[in-house]
Formats: sequence, C-alpha cells, structure tokens
Amino acid sequence: MRSQLDDHGGLRHLISLDGLSREALTGLLDRAENYRRFPGQSAYEGRELAGMTIANLFFEPSTRTRASFDLAGRRLGAHVINLDTQSSSRVKGETMLDTIYTLEAMNTDVFVIRDSEAGMPEFLIDHVADHVSVISAGEAHVSHPTQGLLDVLTIRCHKRRFAGLAVAIVGDIKHSRVARSTARALQTLGTSDLRLVAPAPLLPSEVEFSGAQRFIHMDDGIAGADVVMMLRIQKERMAQSADLDDAQYFRQFGLDARRLQRCAADVLVMHPGPMNRGVEISSEVADGPHSVIREQVNNGVAVRMAVLAAIAATLTRKRKPL
Ligand code: CP
Repeated sequence: MRSQLDDHGGLRHLISLDGLSREALTGLLDRAENYRRFPGQSAYEGRELAGMTIANLFFEPSTRTRASFDLAGRRLGAHVINLDTQSSSRVKGETMLDTIYTLEAMNTDVFVIRDSEAGMPEFLIDHVADHVSVISAGEAHVSHPTQGLLDVLTIRCHKRRFAGLAVAIVGDIKHSRVARSTARALQTLGTSDLRLVAPAPLLPSEVEFSGAQRFIHMDDGIAGADVVMMLRIQKERMAQSADLDDAQYFRQFGLDARRLQRCAADVLVMHPGPMNRGVEISSEVADGPHSVIREQVNNGVAVRMAVLAAIAATLTRKRKPL
C-alpha cells in the first residue's frame, strides 16, 4: 500500500490504520480530545478548513459516519458536498473515477468515500491529483479507520491506558471492517489481551488478527473483560443469512445484564452502531450505566475533525500559488 503520509510525515490520506505508528495514532487522538464537546455545550467552531471543499461520497448506507463527516467539515469552515448512489450520476452508470475527476474539476480537496468494493480507496489514492486527499469512511469488510480511532478515543477517555486491558470484540467479526480497524488500533497502542468472540462461522480466517485469542463460547470470551464491543450481524455481506435465527443468536452471543456480570466491575460496553436490539445486545445493557455507545458517536465528530484538520495542514503545503 502507498504511504498515507507525505515526505514531511504529515497525514496525506487515511484509508487504513495499518502502518500508522503509535505516535501517529496518539497525535490524532490528542487533537480529537481538543475538539470534543458534549451534548448541551456549544460545538467547536474553527477555520482550520477555511477555503477547502470536501466531497462526502457514500455509496453504501450510513447515519453516523456520514453525518459526522458533514458536521466535522462544516464546523472547521469547509464547503461540504454530500452525494450518494441515488443522488449522483453513478446511478446512471458513471464510474467512481469519473465521479472523482468531475468533482476534482470543481476544486474538491478531500474525498471521503464509503464503498462496498474492497480496494477502492487504494485505487483512488493512485489516481487523485497531487493536491487532493482520500479518506475511507468504510471499505467493504476491510477497513473503517475513523471508527477505529473513535473507538480507541472512547476507551482512552475512560481508562487512560491500553496496556493491561482485556478487550473482547463479540459478534460477526468475519464481515466487520470495524473489528479490523479497532483491533489494529488497540494492538498498535499496546493492548495485548484482545479476544475475538463469535460462532465459528463468523470468526475470521486464522491468518487475520494475529495476536488475538479466539472464543466460540461467549461466557469464556468476556470473563473479566474491561471492554466489550458488540457487533451487528452483517446479513448484507452474507450469501446466505436466512438460516440465522435471531432469538437463538441472542441466547448464545447476546449481551444481557446477566452476562455482563461476568465482565470486570467497571466494564465499558461499546457498539459501533447501528444496533439490532434484542439480537446482539439487550436494551437494558445498551442504555445502561456501562454503555458508552452514545459517547462513541460524540467522539466520532471529534475524530473526524482531527483527521480533516491534520490532512488540511498537509494539503496547505501543496497548494498551488494563484
Ligand atoms: N458505525 C458506522 O459506521 O455507522 P454508520 O453505518 O451509521 O455510518
């Protein structure tokens, strides 16, 4: 993969957390903490992206990621375009690359891309102009780097450390870009007790997630965990999902108040959303005192502001004179 950093070490693209150092991740988390504002407070308003144009191209559904990139860009002073499959000429057969070239001709500086095709973000960074950046907002089952960052920011805000934490990721890990990015971020930042908990068909292949332990029994996988991250079953990525029985899945892998007692007393309950209540998590737990699910959403805006601001600083050095 091409480097996501420029020759000065500045963030140029963000399509994966693979290859980013602990220092690079920590720098983005520090920047994001400065942008955090809580519901009821005034949102941060800045000019870090003044004069820049961001195109959010969401060719898969999204609520959280799309809304937070839109807000992040506007709160830092950018012009923001939002397109999806139905509202763009892709529905008429235009390719992704022609869409990018069209918007580049309108002085777009940053493309935020969500697409179901693995490899699309890497393809695009090989084709965009020298003064243009690409951020992945979710690539097939492969990568969701800003979700990984917001997850570790949420953990850092509560635990102030990564070493020595036991983190269990539970559910459809095989199809999850969130699990891949969050696991990578955790391991880079020093978490060694990483547990993957899923029915055997939903565990990833043995070559992925090196260093993580695998569990096919939920009670074993979450025992003593400091953080439990629940995942949705991604039926849209399965060839055959009709056989899955939601009630049976909840009995075996759902997180309810009884199971939560197996975790550490101060366990954090996380979920990237969207949640399927009663399938992977009970409402009692999702809305309960251990849940930081809405904090994850709040941190998502701060992380996307941090990533956009870091990229803007890099692009400013590449600006052509008038
Ligand atoms: N977590 C996440 O990516 O949610 P959305 O699909 O709603 O953006």
